[in-house]
Amino acid sequence: MIRARYERRGPVPQDVIETVEMDEPALTGEEVLLEVLSAPINPSDLLTLTGDYGVLPPLPSFAGNEGVGRVAKLGPEAGNAVRQGQTVLLPVGIGTWSSHVVARASRLVPLPENADPMQLSMITVNPPTASLLLSEFVHLEPGDWVIQNAANSGVGGYLVQLARKRGLRTVNVVRRQEVAEELKDMGADCVIVDGDALADHVREATGGADIRLAIDAVGGQATDHLADCLAEGGTLVNYGLMSGEACHISPKSLVFRDITVKGFWLARWFRAADRERQRALYGDLTRMIAGGELRARVDSSYDVNQIKQAVAAAAAGGRNGKVLIVPHHG
Ligand SMILES: NC(=O)c1ccc[n+]([C@@H]2O[C@H](COP(=O)([O-])OP(=O)(O)OC[C@H]3O[C@@H](n4cnc5c(N)ncnc54)[C@H](OP(=O)(O)O)[C@@H]3O)[C@@H](O)[C@H]2O)c1
Repeated sequence: MIRARYERRGPVPQDVIETVEMDEPALTGEEVLLEVLSAPINPSDLLTLTGDYGVLPPLPSFAGNEGVGRVAKLGPEAGNAVRQGQTVLLPVGIGTWSSHVVARASRLVPLPENADPMQLSMITVNPPTASLLLSEFVHLEPGDWVIQNAANSGVGGYLVQLARKRGLRTVNVVRRQEVAEELKDMGADCVIVDGDALADHVREATGGADIRLAIDAVGGQATDHLADCLAEGGTLVNYGLMSGEACHISPKSLVFRDITVKGFWLARWFRAADRERQRALYGDLTRMIAGGELRARVDSSYDVNQIKQAVAAAAAGGRNGKVLIVPHHG
């Protein structure tokens, strides 16, 4: 089996990641051997490689946080929780950029068969983030407007689709005009390129509608641009740091217009939400993704032994969707 591993962290993520060949381990207890079918490279994976993420595993570490696999072999006490050939969600943080992984049977979540494994492999992180950003901060009614930046990101695309399903309208801020059509195809109401005059363009596009929720994945001046678009008393939620800069926000927004700034991290939501809520959220999302109602664009896919190219492609801007590790199993 081939796995992607890193022994140090550094500013250029593709420089620290490498592949290692390992013997297939003998299974003990309830261990299961899984063929990895697909695993995405997310910005959080890159921040983990550079040492900038909120939690960092000890070194050396196998890379890749989420993904799906197919049960290849069952250990002696694996029981009936999963069966050979079944498609399952891989446990978070197991090192999914691998041809194979070993996991305990009780940690595997069976997934619908006949669904696209690439789409299923992106389910753990981005779809619940998009869903919770829409539901956890501001009470919204059908017809209400929401504004987000990095709108053509994985999270952004899910958010557009989920907002549309809930009857919400979205202003989608991007840094490239060429992604506008794809976003409109997903259900975006308007797509606007970021800049100092963002609030004027948004007022024009929405007919001056009140916007009470702004969702920021960028930081830097982009945060201030979103804050300018909010109605008095509105809430801005930051959940990402794509610019690498601190969120800038003018005291004029905070003092004169009573804008509230909050942060969201899915890992913290997991700590607070009970099992029932987690199950309900993932149940809904799995049904929508398996049924093709909710999807993310895929830019390209790579075998595990191309991990350096894959990570470099994921770290580059201007992609047309996610970069996935799709191991070749001969
Ligand atoms: N807080 C949480 O729990 C949580 C959960 C999931 C994701 N996230 C965060 O959400 C963000 C999006 O994740 P994702 O997986 O959806 O991302 P993604 O699909 O990899 O897309 C990245 C997006 O960021 C944009 N971008 C990159 N550099 C930028 C810059 N300097 N200024 C403005 N935009 C820039 C890209 O625009 P171009 O296409 O123009 O390059 C693209 O829209 C990341 O910051 C990620 O860490 C947070």
